[in-house]
Amino acid sequence: MQISVVKELAAGETRVAATPETVKKFIALGAKVAVESGAGVAASVDDAAYAAAGASVGSRAEVLNGANIILAVQGPAPDSISGFAPGAWLAAGLNPFGERERVDAYAAMGLEALAMEFMPRITRAQSMDILSSQANLSGYKAVLMASNAYGRAFPMMMTAAGTVTAAKAFIMGVGVAGLQAIATARRMGAQVSATDVRSATKEQILSLGAKPIFVENVAGIEGEGAGGYATEMSDEYKAAQAELVSSHIAKQDIVITTALIPGRPAPRLISDAQLASMRAGSVIVDMAAESGGNVEGSVSGETRQIHGVTVIGARNIAASLPADSSALFSRNLFNFLSAFWDKEQNKPVLDEEIGNAVRLTQGGKVVNERLLG
Ligand code: NAI
Repeated sequence: MQISVVKELAAGETRVAATPETVKKFIALGAKVAVESGAGVAASVDDAAYAAAGASVGSRAEVLNGANIILAVQGPAPDSISGFAPGAWLAAGLNPFGERERVDAYAAMGLEALAMEFMPRITRAQSMDILSSQANLSGYKAVLMASNAYGRAFPMMMTAAGTVTAAKAFIMGVGVAGLQAIATARRMGAQVSATDVRSATKEQILSLGAKPIFVENVAGIEGEGAGGYATEMSDEYKAAQAELVSSHIAKQDIVITTALIPGRPAPRLISDAQLASMRAGSVIVDMAAESGGNVEGSVSGETRQIHGVTVIGARNIAASLPADSSALFSRNLFNFLSAFWDKEQNKPVLDEEIGNAVRLTQGGKVVNERLLG
């Protein structure tokens, strides 16, 4: 059983899919591990550290030769991988909806592609969930990005020269990233409020010491669909939400938007008119920019000034914390593969519930029902 870890080639990607810690653990399970030279450099892990953990380090071609499982952070370009064993697994964040052509190519190449972002939201899979581990770090960093772009301080300060008022921060979307953003903004001394369509988050917002801002008395405000994810809301709800947000947002200095709906474009939460109502110098970090954006006019990977508001279209925030994000991502992959390790066959054997959820391709075909539906 050979596990091969490739260097990320996508622009701006700094993470790596295995660390010396997980290399040692895979070897302890009975696998051989091969790591592409330079794979960990951007995450502060050099080749020598992988070699010391027991991995063989070599060129991409050497490492992929005979691979049974390929580990990556992002799905590699199909023409950048070859030489693997027939039916080899590719376990990575494959962006199945956004990179559908790649998925077809993986099928044609005989790979069994496993999309880690399709991990089901069940208790036993929590430790395997790359979306959670990366969103947690990203929610924290988004607040630091906002504070860096903001021309004022977060905490209230009483000084001999006068008082500096506390920043008002509003977090829209209280999933994993939003909860961490609330906690971080609170720790930095901001006055924090937050909203979500899932009414279950109200308690969580209160428990972090922030103020919930919620649409009340509209049909369908539960907002929760399959797997704990949000659903698309009714037009009535959207209108009530827009009105609520309009009156609140004009008083905010910092807004972090995190709202996502799986398999659909991100919901639009802030319109151009609402941006125009905000004070000059306010800062918005749109964490959903890569999925179409929660904020009108935000562009993934760009920082724009719109009506005097700095709108940061975040892109791959986790890559700005490569050491921690790689450590967590790598553990997610290890927890996934090790949970299914069959000692006698010396390889992982997936069960139906998780296997069917994450498996995109098998036997030359696309097999995942979320892609076939
Ligand atoms: P997400 O990244 O899909 O979305 C972020 C947040 O935006 C969610 O809270 C969602 O409700 C909210 N949202 C969507 N549309 C919105 C709108 N129009 N207005 C305002 N907010 C909107 O969500 P994430 O962070 O992945 O977490 C979703 C839930 O799944 C949470 O309850 C989380 O605790 C749970 N979860 C469970 C796991 C497990 O059991 N293995 C693992 C990870 C998360």
